[in-house]
Amino acid sequence: MNPLILVNARHACPGGVPDLIPVGGSPVLLDWQAAQALEALMEELDGWQSIVPVSGWRSFEEQTGIYQSSLAENGPAFTRKYVALPGHSEHQTGLAIDLGLRGPEIDFIRPDFPYEGVCQRFRERAADFGFVERYPAGKEAVIGIAHEPWHFRYVGPSHAREMVHRGLVLEEYLV
Ligand code: DAL
Ligand code: ZN
Repeated sequence: MNPLILVNARHACPGGVPDLIPVGGSPVLLDWQAAQALEALMEELDGWQSIVPVSGWRSFEEQTGIYQSSLAENGPAFTRKYVALPGHSEHQTGLAIDLGLRGPEIDFIRPDFPYEGVCQRFRERAADFGFVERYPAGKEAVIGIAHEPWHFRYVGPSHAREMVHRGLVLEEYLV
């Protein structure tokens, strides 16, 4: 999968299943390149002690199920903010992962991933391993998705460092 692929409400995810491998000793799957980078970052931080992979690659059918159950449980306003339309989720690329702080209950749609402790150390090292926080605060109007502190996207280290340095999200970086 091209690590710079743009998937959002205006850009659909291309069809096909990426080359996937599981991460963190869990059933969560990621594109092999993103998975290798995530494992390397987690090894440096000993991250899997306290961080859980919540959601990685999703099929179109899974995204449809998540969208529909969120509509039923949370309503349309919440769902449009936090769940991409089926066919338009970057989870379908295998390059995106939702991470949660380990705890007794983990919210599947909005896992806790605070700006402190091991989660913040993950953020600070993420770009060097190719990951960016995809939906930062303040960029909601550009991206069309609410602030999601738990959702990371693999773009590769050189692009990730450049995006962080310039304060750009993918929509702005690819212009
Ligand atoms: N939560 C993100 C936007 C997704 O559903 O792909
Ligand atoms: Zn996500």
